[in-house]
Amino acid sequence: MPWVIDTDAGVDDAIGLMMALASTNFDLAAITTVNGNVPLERVNVNVGAVLDLVGAPIPIYAGCDRPMVQPVVRAEDFHGADGLGDAGLSRTTRTPHPQHAALAISALARQHAGNLGIIALGPLTNLALACNLDPDLPMRCSQVVVMGCAWQARGNQTPVAEFNVAADPESARVVFDRFERITVLPWETALDQMMPFEQLAQIASGSSPRAQFFAAMTRIVQVWRQRFHLPGVPLPDPLAVAVALDERVITESIHARVHIDTSQGIGRGLSAIDPRHPSPNARIVTRVDAERAWAMIASAWA
Ligand code: BDR
Ligand code: CA
Repeated sequence: MPWVIDTDAGVDDAIGLMMALASTNFDLAAITTVNGNVPLERVNVNVGAVLDLVGAPIPIYAGCDRPMVQPVVRAEDFHGADGLGDAGLSRTTRTPHPQHAALAISALARQHAGNLGIIALGPLTNLALACNLDPDLPMRCSQVVVMGCAWQARGNQTPVAEFNVAADPESARVVFDRFERITVLPWETALDQMMPFEQLAQIASGSSPRAQFFAAMTRIVQVWRQRFHLPGVPLPDPLAVAVALDERVITESIHARVHIDTSQGIGRGLSAIDPRHPSPNARIVTRVDAERAWAMIASAWA
């Protein structure tokens, strides 16, 4: 089955992209880019840098350079001003394909009618735009995996909202209102099951070009460690990719209706979870087989 990864790369996005690129039985048809952690032009370069590392001829389609309605929110303090940990890795000679990401997603879904998978690792702007351009899109996608939502309202961007939703709540609302079966990897799952620092160091200690890239890109993790006093490294996007690559990564999940709050108050960007709703639109992954996921990351970056 062909897949599209939509990303705002991002350190953890880059780690996840490599997992998909390294997997022998994963057919990655395209990477689409969206404004999020860093500006769109920077995301395009970062995706190119990861593709250069493996020489993969995957097309990049640039998408939306801003949220649908609200002003831009970024995460440069977290990912570095260049999005890849400010380690001089953010460079490429690749340029995106001239087609817009939302049109590319729609075209690929038509081409592979009913059999396209999408992994969304950034704000949902491209996917919402694609739904508005092509209302049948949800019927043409067989799997959609979204890294997003704070299902227990333990937000990382606001007290209640997770970054990918908070960065563009209107788009998240469109996506959760239109798609009927989204697999959601929420923020809390990554927060509750962090990669131990020793394991990160182990991957970074390799001598291959990939391991060296990993080591340079993840040096910024020491800043997170000091600033947030975390006992490990939350890796939300890699966990979302792991779930798409191998269902066995999911050990606990609940089916629920996810409703995105687009109000202007403190609840803006909240993903309200209703497990009693008669028409669930999401399977929320609440626990993962972390050892399996860490092994996938380690082998992708070896
Ligand atoms: C999400 O926000 C971004 O900063 C990460 O790349 C991830 O997609 C986590 O809330
Ligand atoms: Ca991301």
